[in-house]
Amino acid sequence: MQAFSRIYGSGFVTGEVLVPNERMARVCDTSDEWIRERSGIEQRYFVNEGTGTSDLAVGAAKKALDDAGVKAEEIDYIVVATMTPDYYFPGVGSLVQAKLGLSNIPALDIRQQCSGFVYGLQVADALIRSGQAKKLLFIGAEIHTGFMPFSKQGWDVVMGRSDAEIPQAEKDWNSKFRHLVVLFGDAAGAVVMGPSEDPSRGLLGFALHTDGKNVEALYVPSAGFAYRPYFSDEHFKEGRGVPVMDGRTVFKMAVTKMPEAVHEVCAKAGVTVDDINLLIPHQANLRISEGVQKALKLPDSRVYNNIQRYGNTTAATIPIAYNECKASGRIKKGDLVCFVGLGAGFHWGATLMRE
Ligand code: UT7
Repeated sequence: MQAFSRIYGSGFVTGEVLVPNERMARVCDTSDEWIRERSGIEQRYFVNEGTGTSDLAVGAAKKALDDAGVKAEEIDYIVVATMTPDYYFPGVGSLVQAKLGLSNIPALDIRQQCSGFVYGLQVADALIRSGQAKKLLFIGAEIHTGFMPFSKQGWDVVMGRSDAEIPQAEKDWNSKFRHLVVLFGDAAGAVVMGPSEDPSRGLLGFALHTDGKNVEALYVPSAGFAYRPYFSDEHFKEGRGVPVMDGRTVFKMAVTKMPEAVHEVCAKAGVTVDDINLLIPHQANLRISEGVQKALKLPDSRVYNNIQRYGNTTAATIPIAYNECKASGRIKKGDLVCFVGLGAGFHWGATLMRE
């Protein structure tokens, strides 16, 4: 199978503040033990107030440009995957473009949540194949802290600036969302892509799917134009700015659909699951990754997880993992790498790449 586009460099940044599980347990009814046992997460990074998704995106982009040995001025197309833009509109792409000191080049936002990175790779590949882009910057960036229902005092405790006791009523309110707030972290990962000079190296295939029937298993029931006004005081008071998530349904879908997508992309590319040197699953929950690994019968040495350190950073998880694997030598030239993810929409899919 011929590759037309390839990744030339990668990089990532996280939010500024490391938040261990114990800090989350101070503001809601949870524990380090519960979080580790059910999700594998030990810590996450949160941004300071004032940092926007575009700032993380630019930080990751600069690192990816350095890694690829490419100057920002050489970039001719920007694609950003995020579900948490700085503003309702415009998207993050135009902000990233300006903050990198660029102008005129197209900047595109895609909204595929946790499968943003696998979907965006197909968009990037298509743009490069068709000659529309020669040096493309693709970023997955996410800030989840804006969703979290904590008060100012609660944030001071979470961020380690205060050890104040949180009033029980406030803890009870926060605990309504405890299954959600403990899972997410803020970060961005970026890659620089271009035409593959060697047809055996680069992106080899995609298996992408969407099923819109279960939208309400993971969505934000506010801040949208199904409502007038699209966000209101009542919505805020009811906590409707926080995502609704039926964790069990998402979990089951993930451990079923992700292995299916891996089999499908391998069949399309004429390889087998056994040929995969490294599987990088979207980091939603370590138990999901373990379920996917088991379904695919892959040994530990061929599956990469880092959710323990970052939590779920949505569109950023896969490029962060890719960068770490490249830096540590876990991905070597010629390796067959598979990326797989599933998220709100529901969108899911897998991408195969020869490094
Ligand atoms: O990338 C897509 C984004 N989302 C996901 O991938 C989420 C996928 N799902 C999951 O990761 C898991 O379903 C969760 C981590 C969200 C929940 O784990 P679970 O093992 O499915 O737990 P559960 O929802 O069945 O809840 C078990 C218990 C419940 O208490 P009772 O009813 O047994 O008394 C929950 O209220 O755990 C309770 N619980 C918590 N306890 C302490 C839920 N969240 C927490 C918490 N701390 N943070």
